[in-house]
Amino acid sequence: MRTETHLAELAPRDRSVARPRRLRAHGAIRDAIADASVDPARLALPVFALDGDGREEPIASLPGHARLGPDRLVERLAPLVDAGLRSVMVFGVPDDKHDDARTLTAEDGPAQKALHALREAFGDRLLLMADVCLCPHTTHGHCGVPVTDASTGRVRIDGDAALPLLSAGAVSLARAGADWVAPSDMMDGRVAAVRTALDDAGHRDTAILSYTAKFASAHYGPFREAAGSAPAFGDRRTYQMDPRGVRDALRSARLDETAGADMLLVKPGLPYLDVLSALHDRTDLPLAAYHVSGEYAMVHAAAERGWVDARAVYEEQLVALRRAGADLVLTYAALDILSEDI
Ligand code: PBG
Ligand code: ZN
Repeated sequence: MRTETHLAELAPRDRSVARPRRLRAHGAIRDAIADASVDPARLALPVFALDGDGREEPIASLPGHARLGPDRLVERLAPLVDAGLRSVMVFGVPDDKHDDARTLTAEDGPAQKALHALREAFGDRLLLMADVCLCPHTTHGHCGVPVTDASTGRVRIDGDAALPLLSAGAVSLARAGADWVAPSDMMDGRVAAVRTALDDAGHRDTAILSYTAKFASAHYGPFREAAGSAPAFGDRRTYQMDPRGVRDALRSARLDETAGADMLLVKPGLPYLDVLSALHDRTDLPLAAYHVSGEYAMVHAAAERGWVDARAVYEEQLVALRRAGADLVLTYAALDILSEDI
């Protein structure tokens, strides 16, 4: 039997001095024991697809990024793919907006054309994900269908009416070559509706990335400029989650799992690390985090003033998302991280 004396004899002479710095002393040991890292395979770059070869429109609030026609998109991505980029999220940006969202559902929509060009150029070197939502495609800029209530005269956003459009969009994008479709609309029942539509159309292997925990955030401004998708009236608070709530996200994760989501996403990223971590504890599905346009743009703006080193801040932010539980991080900063290697 061990006694106090016995233990004391075995212990280092001065037990009061622990030296955690030994684990920080050399780059090799720091790399060897890191809890998380930002490998390029963990990043997905959001891209904005225009209809028409040769087109290129810089996005002022997302410096370094542009809306691109199919050929220009391929040109811009080629060096990034060579540097290790493995995934993109394609957002179609139509020239004309229609409330039947025909540019989302048509075979020749801007995202569909981009997907064809990307597949042709990169084959299986690049995982193709495609956004499914109404807001960039409609004049009202909402993610569901605005309906005026006959009795009250108030406009509400109808989710059920959006499901057929979202489902048709998902099928069209899958047909155009998307490996994954990502419904970002936040309407109830969307994952089940999209899953059923994909299966019925024979796209059983097309996976669904669900925006499980998407918050009504003030960080989406630059994206809305890029996609021309700001709501024409009102806001998105009746369908995106209240930033003060975490249980809504946990419930939504359970619903999405049951409905057949293949991966769950939290958005924005950094303000919601607790949500990411809570989902990580509760689900066996892989998790994605969306480091959104505002998160990217704020760092860039500070860097322009010489106040921070953008690349270093991005790395720290992305590793935070990985540490909190994200397998995959959607980020505009993939550009900054990867261009070091070009
Ligand atoms: C909505 C959608 C949003 C973003 C992408 N799709 C949010 C919104 O406009 O409410 C934002 C992405 C970003 O900020 O990078 N379907
Ligand atoms: Zn939307």
